[in-house]
Amino acid sequence: MNTEIFKIESDKDLVQQIAKAGEMIREGKLVAFPTETVYGLGGNALDKQAAERIYKAKGRPSDNPLIVHIADLESLDRITKRVSKEARALAQAFWPGPLTMIFEKNDQIPYSTSGGLETVGVRMPSHQVALQLIRLGGGYIAAPSANVSGRPSPTCAAHVIEDLSGKIDGIIDDGVDSAIGLESTIVDMTESIPVILRPGFITPSMIREVIGEVEVDKGLLSQDHHEKPKAPGMKYKHYAPQGELYLVRGDRQEVARYIDQQVSERIKLGKRVGVIATDETLKWYHHGITKSIGNWSQEETIARHLYGILRSFDELKVDEIYSEAFDTPKFGQAIMNRLTKAAGQRIKDV
Ligand code: TXA
Ligand code: MG
Repeated sequence: MNTEIFKIESDKDLVQQIAKAGEMIREGKLVAFPTETVYGLGGNALDKQAAERIYKAKGRPSDNPLIVHIADLESLDRITKRVSKEARALAQAFWPGPLTMIFEKNDQIPYSTSGGLETVGVRMPSHQVALQLIRLGGGYIAAPSANVSGRPSPTCAAHVIEDLSGKIDGIIDDGVDSAIGLESTIVDMTESIPVILRPGFITPSMIREVIGEVEVDKGLLSQDHHEKPKAPGMKYKHYAPQGELYLVRGDRQEVARYIDQQVSERIKLGKRVGVIATDETLKWYHHGITKSIGNWSQEETIARHLYGILRSFDELKVDEIYSEAFDTPKFGQAIMNRLTKAAGQRIKDV
């Protein structure tokens, strides 16, 4: 399949290029597009066949539901049974933006979009390209992250091209990396007390400030795997880099000393090893291929570069990656949720 690249370089492109991409969506085709979180792989959410194509292109299990992206609040009422006042308050506070809410779906949404569930996840993104594509594409775009299932989510058009070129109809490239770099926070609004199913840029305390109470899915917190996460997608080993990832937690300098020694030993055994450090700690590492992910004092930079750095180590074909554990105050929960999964739970306290 020929994958058309739509470049957005001017306001004129925002109209003309996205009009073409929107027409493709309305025809049931698949177009990847930038959002403020990560790139999405879009198809018409009301079209059963388009949804099925999305699963096929990604190689995604069909029981893993898709998020429906909308551009206005009226659209929310047209695809759901009931929107609580808490949900309206959260929409008012955080939409457009990196928040997905789960509602009971009505029969506008086919089961192939909802992964067979009676519920649907809905998000109104803030990225101008995404909003424009939704408007011109019919109003309802189902979009999972635009990676091949099991690979890190894409945070620039090049990542999407790497994974999906030849498998989808179009890719919109606005030339800019995703501002946030981690997928949206998911909150299940069908429970009497809403539950966070996936941590993200919108934190539990930001949500509590608006609606008072919110819980965090027990399946996310438990280390022992007895509790299954409620979001089907959270149970899969996700975001896995090709090299084995090890996380090390503790005092920063101790962590660096431990990793540096470990890496030097692994290299002696003939391994190719990568290290994920930060601007502040890079100076403490002397072995392996070291990269800074961002700045401890600006935690959003760590979130933004996480997936890109995992992909870059794949390209370098390292056998192992050692990383500091980034349990930072605001986004630490979201960052560590992705990192521990990428590490298959290999985490060491020093
Ligand atoms: O930031 C994002 O949310 C990105 C961009 C493209 O908007 N999208 C995204 O989609 O991350 P995806 O498909 O990669 O992740 C969706 C997650 C999966 O873990 C899925 O199981 C969960 O949301 N999910 C979707 N609908 C659900 C539902 N009705 N009930 C429970 N979990 C749901
Ligand atoms: Mg995903």
